Amino acid sequence: MQLTEIDHIAIAVNDLDAAVAYYREAFGAGVHHRETVDSDGVEEALIKVADSYIQLTAATRPDSPIAKFLEKRGEGLHHVGYRVDDCAEALAQMVAAGATPIDKVPRPGSRGTTVAFVHPKGSLGTLIELVQE
Ligand code: CO
Repeated sequence: MQLTEIDHIAIAVNDLDAAVAYYREAFGAGVHHRETVDSDGVEEALIKVADSYIQLTAATRPDSPIAKFLEKRGEGLHHVGYRVDDCAEALAQMVAAGATPIDKVPRPGSRGTTVAFVHPKGSLGTLIELVQE
């Protein structure tokens, strides 16, 4: 397995439009891609930084993991997406190394990617998303 890029850094926000406006004002950054992922109950705005993204992420329904995170912790860093060539292989290697998978098998993510989440417990307190383009 090889980590090829930091795919994205995901930041949980209460108000996606307000967050996008802030990034525009603070960094002159425009939105590269915006997408609602119904299965996850989130809406994302992706801001491109070189070959990586800052992913501003808001909840679209109360039972979304982002809604629960915001309720408990407030706005802030939610997870890091590591880009890999083969998501299934990377997940298997992480699990063999002691990681706890959230997704037992890779599944569709935004932008047509294939993803798998790995629990912070067992991964140095960091929620990791493996991303295969
Ligand atoms: Co993500």
